[in-house]
Amino acid sequence: MPRIPCSDGAGEVLAVGEGVTAWKPKDRVAGIFMQNWLDGPLTPDKAKGALGGDIDGMAAEKVVLKETGLVAIPEHMSFEEAATLPCAAVTAWNALSAGNLKPGATVLILGTGGVSIFALQFARLRGARVIGISGSDEKLARAYSLGLDAGLNYRDNPEWDRWALDETGGEGVDLVVEVGGLGTIGRSLRAVRMGGSISQVGVLTGSAEPLPLAPILHKQLRIQGIYVGSRKDFEEMNQAIALTVLRPAGENFHWSQAREAFARMEEGSHFGKLVLTVS
Ligand SMILES: NC(=O)c1ccc[n+]([C@@H]2O[C@H](COP(=O)([O-])OP(=O)(O)OC[C@H]3O[C@@H](n4cnc5c(N)ncnc54)[C@H](OP(=O)(O)O)[C@@H]3O)[C@@H](O)[C@H]2O)c1
Repeated sequence: MPRIPCSDGAGEVLAVGEGVTAWKPKDRVAGIFMQNWLDGPLTPDKAKGALGGDIDGMAAEKVVLKETGLVAIPEHMSFEEAATLPCAAVTAWNALSAGNLKPGATVLILGTGGVSIFALQFARLRGARVIGISGSDEKLARAYSLGLDAGLNYRDNPEWDRWALDETGGEGVDLVVEVGGLGTIGRSLRAVRMGGSISQVGVLTGSAEPLPLAPILHKQLRIQGIYVGSRKDFEEMNQAIALTVLRPAGENFHWSQAREAFARMEEGSHFGKLVLTVS
């Protein structure tokens, strides 16, 4: 600190440095989350250079990025829409890839935040059935409009693991996109089927609930940690987004309302992504 926040942003190329061939002024681009992770598996070196973390982020009128630190954005998207993609969407894309889903598989999403709503949209693209939980009936209604097959309010019904088993004929879901962390992983382990997968993405809950190890071995589960993804993952995801003309869900603020937007995120009243328009 001090550090310019926000890992994600999209905009227009204003100028390029000497020797840059990949981009020209007016190209429509987004930054990649980890500026040094272009392809292949993650290594300690590639993990350095996270925008808004290791280096200054995207809440700015102008940024300077490496030639390799950008991707072209889908043509049908506004800058606001494309600004939702670098972290949450790439993470959701890879969380689903890790599940090796077959069409008809069931995916469980937790909540209706940025990662989970992209996971819902991408799971539908892959022909999966999606069930999900939320603390809000209004948000569940919005998720249904995006293709959610079954939803449950976890405030009214905290035993959502039992519900997920009921929804899958007692077998359990094929994949959980786990954004909750310790406060939810126990139920996620009970909700997943034998031989199923958990993509461990988030740490939203601060609870110190003990981690039940027995289901991991009894069910022969795979728990895959997900840390966003590479530029290649981003480009592949963008191809799918462009082909299906997928539109992100969220809400837009002018950046003079940044405090209000961050407060919305902190209280968890948002659905999908929150975007600041910088102008
Ligand atoms: N590993 C990675 O690469 C990576 C990438 C992106 C994000 N993350 C992490 O993943 C998590 C989610 O990120 P995000 O951007 O999607 O967050 P977000 O937009 O802030 O989503 C938060 C939502 O999660 C739901 N939620 C909160 N507590 C819950 C609980 N106990 N049970 C079920 N749902 C709960 C709520 O949805 P409802 O209001 O509908 O209940 C809340 O609105 C965060 O911990 C973030 O740091 C990790």
